[in-house]
Amino acid sequence: MALRFYKIYDFSSHGLEPQELNSVRTIDIENKLICLVRIPDGYFAIDDKCPHAGARLGLGKCSPEGMVICPIHRYQYDVKTGRGLPKQGDYVNTYPIETRADGVYIGFEKKWWQF
Ligand code: FES
Repeated sequence: MALRFYKIYDFSSHGLEPQELNSVRTIDIENKLICLVRIPDGYFAIDDKCPHAGARLGLGKCSPEGMVICPIHRYQYDVKTGRGLPKQGDYVNTYPIETRADGVYIGFEKKWWQF
């Protein structure tokens, strides 16, 4: 799977700690809303849209263990696997993140016209 990477944070302009630890936020990459998470293990990215009823996960909270909690009905999703709690039986997509010397990047599968 070929990936195209987009820079989310540039350390030279955003600083070395551009996002608070154990926080979530919504970012827009090419008109796709992504929930960007920072926990002690690093940055992670999942779909921003909660599969339960469509709330924005980027407005929720995140535990240090990496569970994103939806702001509406408090469903939870693991940022590393995308899986919801067993009783929920649902999931969100995850996206690769790379922390490089100059910043933080997110990868999306390349479309046929991007090769
Ligand atoms: S909308 Fe997310 S838990 Fe209901």
